[in-house]
Amino acid sequence: MLRSVILAASRSSRMERFVASAPVSRDLIRRFVAGTTIEDALRATRELVAEGLTVTLDHLGEDTFNPAQAAAARDEYRNLLRALAAAGLTPAAEVSLKLSALGQRFDEQLAHDYAAQVCAAAAEAGTTVTLDMEDHTTTDSTCEILAKLRQDHPETGVALQAYLRRTEADCRDLAGSGSRVRLCKGAYAEPESVAYQAKLEVDKSYVRCLNILMSGDGYPMFATHDPRLVAIAEDRALWFDRSPDRFEFQMLYGVRTEEQQRLVADGYRVRVYVPYGTQSYGYLMRRLAERPANLGFFARALASR
Ligand code: FDA
Repeated sequence: MLRSVILAASRSSRMERFVASAPVSRDLIRRFVAGTTIEDALRATRELVAEGLTVTLDHLGEDTFNPAQAAAARDEYRNLLRALAAAGLTPAAEVSLKLSALGQRFDEQLAHDYAAQVCAAAAEAGTTVTLDMEDHTTTDSTCEILAKLRQDHPETGVALQAYLRRTEADCRDLAGSGSRVRLCKGAYAEPESVAYQAKLEVDKSYVRCLNILMSGDGYPMFATHDPRLVAIAEDRALWFDRSPDRFEFQMLYGVRTEEQQRLVADGYRVRVYVPYGTQSYGYLMRRLAERPANLGFFARALASR
């Protein structure tokens, strides 16, 4: 219930103005977002790489309503990739891309073309692109664009969401050699017709998908902070005889950092999803919706002012 309320608020521009004007927002942003500029993104990446982690960078830009905004988003990623390569931070750092930022909502062909240009820039920089997955109305389109991108850039990855009923089938389709699939629970408010609603059902689906990916020939990327799912992935790696260089864990910047370090110390690959940019409101609200306990963090920070 609280999750749905927070996700609804994430789409309210009035609420966005209110949150943006609260001084406490700065604390919340600092915890979950690396900064606003490419320089900030490079600094956070350097720090994480020095700790033995790898990184995927997400640019938090304006919503995209026209081709000029889509071109600006593409250019930001191309500049970021050039800067990462120049700083010697590839291949440790890759990028995460939302097709909606490249115009997917109004012109799928344009989104494909711009994504292909970002994939080419990533290849030139010696690294990869992973497509984020957004709400279920975009899943078919994202999978179709991924298939086209993989013709020239087979290393392009995609996020799949365990809460969607279709995802086991998508995992089977994408478990083949050369694929890179990031398995997450899913962060949007979805109707029961397409998505499991109960946490237990989502977790069970995650485990079924994890088994499919672990037993396949691709490179699975388990994006979760859930201790039970992390333990199950560690167990299945032994069961399916997967060495730690044939899959990775992924967690969000600022979330369970001790667990990130524990996994690295135990010999696992861990990639941190690092957002940067000026438009952090939607991202922060999705983080609050995942863990309403973070509202306590917000409230404590407010009270201390
Ligand atoms: P869950 O939310 O059930 O949390 C399990 C436990 O983890 C909690 O009990 C707590 O201990 C800890 N925890 C979780 N979140 C925390 C927080 N914010 N602060 C402190 N502790 C926390 N979604 C999507 O729809 N499309 C996408 O492309 C992506 N991409 C993506 C990339 C990466 C690298 C990650 C880690 C996640 C995503 N997500 C995503 C988000 C994902 O779908 C999901 O909403 C969150 O990861 C939260 O789910 P968990 O699996 O962590 O479990």
